[in-house]
Amino acid sequence: MKAVTSLSRKCGRPPTPSELLQVAVAACRAAGRHAARNLDRRKETILVTAHDVKLALDVECQKIAERRILSAFPDHAILGEETAGETAPDHSPYVWIIDPIDGTVNFSHGLPFWCCSVAVQQAGQTVAGAVFGPALGELFTATQDGPALRNGKPIRVSDTSRMESALVMTGLDQKLSKRMNRLTLFKAIAENVRKARVMGAAALDACRVAAGQADAYFESGIYSWDVAAAGLIVERAGGQIETLATPGPHRLIFLASNRLVHFPLRRLIKSHLAL
Ligand code: IPD
Ligand code: CA
Repeated sequence: MKAVTSLSRKCGRPPTPSELLQVAVAACRAAGRHAARNLDRRKETILVTAHDVKLALDVECQKIAERRILSAFPDHAILGEETAGETAPDHSPYVWIIDPIDGTVNFSHGLPFWCCSVAVQQAGQTVAGAVFGPALGELFTATQDGPALRNGKPIRVSDTSRMESALVMTGLDQKLSKRMNRLTLFKAIAENVRKARVMGAAALDACRVAAGQADAYFESGIYSWDVAAAGLIVERAGGQIETLATPGPHRLIFLASNRLVHFPLRRLIKSHLAL
């Protein structure tokens, strides 16, 4: 990391996407390893709501990722899930977007579907992103000018073109019920595709699309830190991403696909969701 800092400073030029990715990988590996090593503390909750938990480890892992990033780029801004309400990250053209543990509920139950996600945006565009799933042994990465990789090997979206053959990752929006029953939307998707899956970690779900293991990922009411890195990874794997609406600060109704099923899926979703 010191090498990146000194290189950028010495050259007096902005960091390249691959230098930014190097730091994103270091940050999410450090945070992910901390969570994995402390699995026995997975029940240490600091907040419990009807359908969610917040863990002491969520906060610790964000701090670890932040430290890695700021030691390389002290003047860059941070937008992290655990502190998003506290500060507006507007003091730098570079904003690092951290989800320290995505799939916190899975993690707290000892399920392996959780990850750490780190993306960096420059002037609003995602330049580099990394998603690390320690329990699965998977690291997904991409830069805006390079291929999407899983554990260093190129990945590509699927060639499924028919909705009835598609596997779609999705989730259940806890806050959607005021506008419509969230199960209505889930039912519509499930009835029109081969399988709908709810795995519980948005960043990993979207990376499944990038890896060609799922054909689309749709979720209403996720947050920008859930999909900032994975969205770039999907695009660089040949897929398409679209924010269908932004219902609140950092909140998104988001679709990622292999491109081929994007339009029919979007039409189905829009016919059930008053956007
Ligand atoms: C959640 C997970 C889950 C999705 C939720 C997210 P968290 O993130 O990605 O799959 O359904 O909308 O908030 O809280 O575990 O970081
Ligand atoms: Ca998350």
